[in-house]
Amino acid sequence: EWSSQPEVTAAHPPKNAAGDGDRRPISTVLIIIAMQTEALPLVNKFHLSEDIDGSLFPKGVPWVRYHGIYKELHINLVWTGKDSILVEFSKFGCVLAGVDSIGTISASLVSYASIQALKPDLIINAGTAGGFKAKGACVADVYLVSNVAFHDRRIPIHVGKLSTGDSLDMSPQDEVLILANDAVVKDMEGAAVAYVADLLSVPAIFIKAVTNTVDGQKSIAEEFLQNLIAVCTTLAQTVSQVVDFISGVYQIIG
Ligand code: ADE
Repeated sequence: EWSSQPEVTAAHPPKNAAGDGDRRPISTVLIIIAMQTEALPLVNKFHLSEDIDGSLFPKGVPWVRYHGIYKELHINLVWTGKDSILVEFSKFGCVLAGVDSIGTISASLVSYASIQALKPDLIINAGTAGGFKAKGACVADVYLVSNVAFHDRRIPIHVGKLSTGDSLDMSPQDEVLILANDAVVKDMEGAAVAYVADLLSVPAIFIKAVTNTVDGQKSIAEEFLQNLIAVCTTLAQTVSQVVDFISGVYQIIG
């Protein structure tokens, strides 16, 4: 539960209206990001430094933590890093680079480990997403998501606006399930982060910028790659506005 209390100083945290809990400002924010291209504009915007010590996470994991202080907030940005096994090949068959650790498995693991290590007051899962034209989503729109659901688990959870699965493309079966989730946007991490945040009782918000539509005529992968860099700049601007808003917002404890 949060409230905006600009007139109250951190030195004199008030009791909440019901008198049943203390308030203190949100202090530690954990931003979870799957792609390096999504992460770097934010690392630059908040002047974050890479954690070279690497002691926060178990040996061998590719996860990268950047951190710094911005408007009195302790900002931690954790990027899931490059997969050590999967690589991308050029059309001539050369190995280009490791592939970002996208998808729900890495998102869950990194969320769990980062929450344990950093005890954040708030998680922000920021990233790109495919959008449904039929629901009004256009390329470069940024969505602040309130509800999330998985679409490729055959266990119905609740209806959500963001639907998460482990594929960038969309099979006809996926489409039916995603639309049953009433989704406007689909991504590959949100519901996984939501699951872990919920397990560990940490509030989370989801900010998703549309790189491509998924229900049009264009190839999803081509449109995604075409728009990725520009849309990540827009994503960074929006995340930074949200973080500006969060600085000075009180959370109610207990
Ligand atoms: N991220 C960006 N575009 C996406 C798509 N079409 N599906 C899932 N995640 C995405």
